[in-house]
Amino acid sequence: MSLTLDAREWVAVMGPSGSGKSTVLLCAAGLLQAQSGSVVLDGVDVLNASEQQLTALRRDRLGFIFQEFNLVPALTAEQNVGLPARFSGSRRPREEVLDVLGRVGMREKAGSRPDQLSGGQRQRVAIARALVSRPAVVFADEPTGSLDVRSGDQILDELQSLADEGSAVLMVTHDPRVAARTDRVIWLRDGRIEEEMVAASAEQIAARLAGLEDAAA
Ligand SMILES: Nc1ncnc2c1ncn2[C@@H]1O[C@H](COP(=O)(O)OP(=O)(O)OP(=O)(O)O)[C@@H](O)[C@H]1O
Ligand SMILES: [Mg+2]
Repeated sequence: MSLTLDAREWVAVMGPSGSGKSTVLLCAAGLLQAQSGSVVLDGVDVLNASEQQLTALRRDRLGFIFQEFNLVPALTAEQNVGLPARFSGSRRPREEVLDVLGRVGMREKAGSRPDQLSGGQRQRVAIARALVSRPAVVFADEPTGSLDVRSGDQILDELQSLADEGSAVLMVTHDPRVAARTDRVIWLRDGRIEEEMVAASAEQIAARLAGLEDAAA
């Protein structure tokens, strides 16, 4: 597959279970080594970069909102959000960290550790961490999957503002309503891009999805 995202672009990846959505995200993010081809992130050739370059890239330029490897268990929500800055040897003002936690509805939980939070709350802390460092590229695998509609909408508003402020956002979702918020939907099947939809409505996306399910049945 070949895929290019511009700054300010928000792209959804859709397709049946097992079609390769998460794999694409992991390869694009440089977290899984592709065996061939090339991945360029913010000007860095990921497959040929040194470990040092990759670490700096991940720390300073990328944001990850993944269900699995997300938060550091021993740290509070506030410390997790402040962590990327600490890694690069600086310290974010406490008010800034609390403000961004407030934007995802997690300000009261600033002092909680991940094991004291629900799955959706952990997801929101991970989003706050991506928001605070304003990454060039944000990768999100089902960022609203474990959230109720209202918290999900809040997260989508924040992803939209990240894109408006210049980030490229690549997001996997199964939800037509969520995908309809993006600029472009990429449909995967068996690891290939089958189709792209630009500025599609939730109804158009849902119809495409229903067609897929019919075809599978
Ligand atoms: N590490 C791996 N080694 C070998 N095959 C893998 C590996 N990870 C995933 N796969 C296979 O690659 C395919 C794509 O998996 P992937 O997790 O990307 O699917 P997905 O589209 O994200 O599905 P879902 O919607 O269920 O999350 C699947 O057939 C899966 O079995
Ligand atoms: Mg997946």
